[in-house]
Formats: sequence, C-alpha cells, structure tokens
Amino acid sequence: MFDAKTTCVVVVGAQWGDEGKGKLVDVLAERADLVVRYQGGANAGHTVVIGDTQFILRQIPSGILHPGVTCIIGNGVVLEPENLFAELDQLTQRGIDTQGRLYVSDRAHLVLPYHKLLDAASEKSQKLGTTKRGIGPAYEDKFGRRGIRVTDLRHLDCARALLADRVERANRLLELMGSAERASFDLHAGLLERLAPRLLPLAADTGLLVHRAVGQGRRILLEGAQGALLDVDHGTYPYVTSSNTTAGGAAVGAGIGPTAIDGVLGVVKAYTTRVGNGPLPTEAPSPLGERLRELGGEFGAVTGRPRRCGWFDATVVRYAVRVNGLTGLAVTKLDVLDTFAEIPVCTSYRLGQDDCEEMPAEVEVLARVEPMYQVLPGWQTPTGGARRLADLPAAARSYLDRLQALSGVPVRYVSVGTRRDQIIEVK
Ligand code: IMP
Repeated sequence: MFDAKTTCVVVVGAQWGDEGKGKLVDVLAERADLVVRYQGGANAGHTVVIGDTQFILRQIPSGILHPGVTCIIGNGVVLEPENLFAELDQLTQRGIDTQGRLYVSDRAHLVLPYHKLLDAASEKSQKLGTTKRGIGPAYEDKFGRRGIRVTDLRHLDCARALLADRVERANRLLELMGSAERASFDLHAGLLERLAPRLLPLAADTGLLVHRAVGQGRRILLEGAQGALLDVDHGTYPYVTSSNTTAGGAAVGAGIGPTAIDGVLGVVKAYTTRVGNGPLPTEAPSPLGERLRELGGEFGAVTGRPRRCGWFDATVVRYAVRVNGLTGLAVTKLDVLDTFAEIPVCTSYRLGQDDCEEMPAEVEVLARVEPMYQVLPGWQTPTGGARRLADLPAAARSYLDRLQALSGVPVRYVSVGTRRDQIIEVK
C-alpha cells in the first residue's frame, strides 16, 4: 500500500462494520510508523490473532501490536478511559510494551457512565440495536457543546463544575425517558480524579503530531471503525452509529487536512454481515445464514450478539467506493466460503418494475428492494494456505475478479484466515 508517493493511507470498512479492519491494519502496520484511530469509541471491536493469542482492541489502534509503531487516538474518537486502561493492562500482561507509544488527543471527548445510562434508556424506545457503550449520547454532547474533553482533566475544579451540570442534565433526561436509573455526581467526580493522573501523561495535541509526521514523509495509517453503511451521513439512517466512519471523517478526526491523504483502502468481507437493527437486503435465509455465521464465527466482538449474515452486495460496495473515494479493496474471510458449492452475489437491486442502482436515502425503501443475484460456482477447496493469488483455485480467483469488476476498484489484499500470515498481497 505504501510507496514513495503514498505515505498517508486511510483504512475503512466498506459494509456494515466487522469487515476485518483490525487484521488488515495489523498487517499493514508492519510497514507503518504511525497508526491513528479517528472516530467511534469502545463500540468497535478489532480482532487480531497472533499465534494462539487473540487480541480484541476496542479503542487502541491495532498497530500497537508492532513494537516500532506509534499509536494515536485522535480528536474524533469518543474515549472511554476506563476501557482504555483495561486494554493497556491486557496488552502489558501479554508482553506488549505500550510505554511511550500511545498518545490520546487532548481534544477527544470523554464517554462517561451517564452516557451509557442514557444510551440504554433511549434504546428502550428507539430500538436501534446500539452497543450501549454511550457512543450516541457522547457525540450528542460533543455537538451540543456540552462535552467533557480530555483537556478538561487538566483543570479538575473546572471539570467538576462541568460535571455537576452534565450529571444533573442526564438525570433530568433519564427521568423524562421514564428510566429509574440515576447518575451519581460523587461517583463521576471520583472517576475523573482517578482517571486524570493516568490519562494526562498520554494527552497531546495529536493533530500536530500527525501533521509533523505527514511533513516528514512518514508512513501513516488512519484506521476507521465501523463501516460506510453505519456512517451518520451516508449510512442506513437512523440505524447508524453517530460518527463519520467514511474517509472524510479521517481528516477531521485525525486533525489533518484532506490533502494529506494519499489513498483509501476499503475493507469488505467476501460476503456481508450486520449487527444491530436495520435493513440488510442480501440477508441469507435459514439455514444458509446460520452456516455463514458458524463458519465465519460471526458474533459481535463487543457485545457477543450473533451477526446477521448474507451475500456480497455490490450495490453497497459501489456506494462505499463512491462516498469514501476508495482506491483499493481488501477482501477478507474468503476462506469462509470454501465449502459452498454455489455463491450468490448481488449485482444490483430492483424496486418494483424499476432498476435501483444507487443506495436509497430511506431505510423503508431499502427494506423493499429486491436483490438481483448472479450465482457463481464455489471452489470447495481450502484456501487458508494460499499466499499468492496463483495459489487460489480458479473459481476463487474468478469470484474475486467478479467482486472487483462489480466494485470498480482493484483488489489489493485478500485475507484467507484469522492469522497474521494468512494474507495475499495482490501485486
Ligand atoms: P452505536 O455505535 O453503539 O451507537 O450503535 C449504532 C449501530 O452501529 C448499531 O447497529 C451497532 O450494532 C452498530 N455498530 C457500532 N459499532 C459497531 C462495530 O464495530 N461493528 C459493527 N457494528 C457496529
């Protein structure tokens, strides 16, 4: 991905999240100097398998698993500090030295326990299927200009005053929503006091760090969370997350200008999954959906919820190509399809008598589209050992060729298993 002219690359999910960005970033980070998370928070679950050890990283970029890489949690992230410390402790216990390699933007907003109470209470009526990690309420506070940021911990007296106001407001909202839960000011104030001494040494003007790294021509990966169809602007609203998951969000959330970005790699599964509610046009009927779920281990990394599974949807991916400006694709979990005799691929949608080539704005319309399938022959051969395209069975290569032709961008990587080495770089 990196070359003399391409030093700053965004990696985004091009479906509904869980595409395997963690593994891709881990593989690409081997050649990177800096890895930056730019949006979302502890709702993400990036899984990386090294040897027999599985790491699930929610907030820390997967680049942390490479010793020479510096990692940044950017201003666009909503940070849950206690979870961050738990992640750091877990890494240390497993022999990963994070000292001096992780910085947190002092402009990042905090996710506090009252955000989780509000998330849980609003789920009762909205039923979006959120992760209940407080993400939506934390972004609401950010854009309502009443958030508490990392930098506020530098002035604990002021932070306490902010907190008193925010906790009272949260409690009024909880009452309005009919929830019996209440947030405790003392608990929150104690939390901020405990967090500050550990968080502040990590706090920095991370936009400046990234800007300088760009100027020095260092290799930078901007790591997105979730996927294009969960983007608050471009996704299947209102069944979306609360941030811009698409590549435009990378500049804002990392604190650099868009002109610094040289390429955008979109990660797609060789099929499609979704957690949470909202339409999924290519959802496979029983028992095929269950078979994909079992073979792919499709259970949420954060919530453990079973993921809904279906076939590759080219309308979704073409849309993701457009709204992200994708310059390449990484196709993951090809091996999950190894045992299927036939593999349907959705090439376009029909809506009544009409073709529907673009993603509709309304979820009610998306719920009514009829996917048009082309059924491709399966390869029924294990692919987990392939390390070059030529190692793949012909039918698997034809399958990838078809995905590439339908998407309109070149396939640059193919992942054929959970392990680090199970990857094909397409030269
Ligand atoms: P929230 O981000 O917790 O507010 O959840 C909003 C929607 O995004 C729900 O459908 C979640 O299941 C989905 N979501 C959030 N994070 C992820 C993720 O990392 N992978 C897949 N879906 C996610």
